[in-house]
Amino acid sequence: MEKQNIEWGKLGFGYVKTDMRYVSNFKDGAWDEGCLTGDDKVVISECAGVLQYSQSVFEGLKAYTTEDGSIVCFRPDLNASRMADSARRLEMPAFPEDRFVDAVKQVVLANESWVPPYGSGATLYIRPYMFGSNPVIGVKPADEYQFRIFVTPVGPYFKGGAKPITIKIADYDRAAPRGTGHIKAGLNYAMSLHAIVEAHKQGFAENLYPDSATRTKVEETGGANIIFIKGNKFITVGSPTILPSITRRSLEYVAEKYLGLEVEERTVMLSELGDFEEAGLCGTAAVISPVGKIVDGDKEICFPSGMEKMGPTIQKLYDTLTGIQMGRIEAPEGWIYKIK
Ligand code: PLP
Ligand code: COI
Repeated sequence: MEKQNIEWGKLGFGYVKTDMRYVSNFKDGAWDEGCLTGDDKVVISECAGVLQYSQSVFEGLKAYTTEDGSIVCFRPDLNASRMADSARRLEMPAFPEDRFVDAVKQVVLANESWVPPYGSGATLYIRPYMFGSNPVIGVKPADEYQFRIFVTPVGPYFKGGAKPITIKIADYDRAAPRGTGHIKAGLNYAMSLHAIVEAHKQGFAENLYPDSATRTKVEETGGANIIFIKGNKFITVGSPTILPSITRRSLEYVAEKYLGLEVEERTVMLSELGDFEEAGLCGTAAVISPVGKIVDGDKEICFPSGMEKMGPTIQKLYDTLTGIQMGRIEAPEGWIYKIK
């Protein structure tokens, strides 16, 4: 298979139109059989539920070329079940989880020439999403939905790749108690746009949101969970109002079983940020991006790992996770879904 003529190593995290996408429609209470199409345009009513009341959910996962030349995905079953959870919270019909995984496979195979080669530094980002497509004017769920998946080759989410970033404690709130912070709904990202534009203008790479109720606890950033290292401990945030990151849950396993770290998933107070030795953001797009500094108003928390490179423990977590994804390190049962 001839690959696309792309400078893979120069890709950032952006959209590149690829050849094929998957589409399935929900109508009269059932999903149709779905198909691949070359048409990248979505045509829906001007009054579609998604356009009026933002009834949309999405997922993000990646396909990798492994050391032996196979093409694989990382734990797509967890994306399928999280998308079903997201859909239920927004009164949308869940797309069947086995069909989700099969559709991912179909789209990746149909765009094989766009899957970045092993060692190129790039990966194929897969974006499943669904939205209310029929007219809705009173506030209520749509009756018809479209589920789609497209793919796009990507490089690092944050400029500079593995260089530590500086983030700020957000001036805004992200997720209300009993709200939608734990699902992957477009609305959670729409409301973060003003905050991220302001943070970027101020020179920060991301916003770290505190809990909305008390603003005393660490939650997550706009597009990733946060992780910390203190001695032999791997500390992650346990909270019902953050997205249950598949990367973070995988890292908890890797930390304990592969690296012998003690794992603590718990409440993390803003006041203890200064106690940690290393910090990082983790997610499909971010992989693990080291955090060198957190700015909280006029206070700066500078991690001892510094601003030049990843701290040693986060580096080990990064190497092990990416080693598993790229086939260099044996994966736990069921983590690697072989596409080709
Ligand atoms: N938190 C938020 C708000 C996200 O958008 C993402 C990205 O998907 C994550 C965390 C990381 O989740 P995952 O590791 O499943 O990609
Ligand atoms: C991901 O990591 O997949 C995300 O969705 C984060 C961001 C691009 C929204």
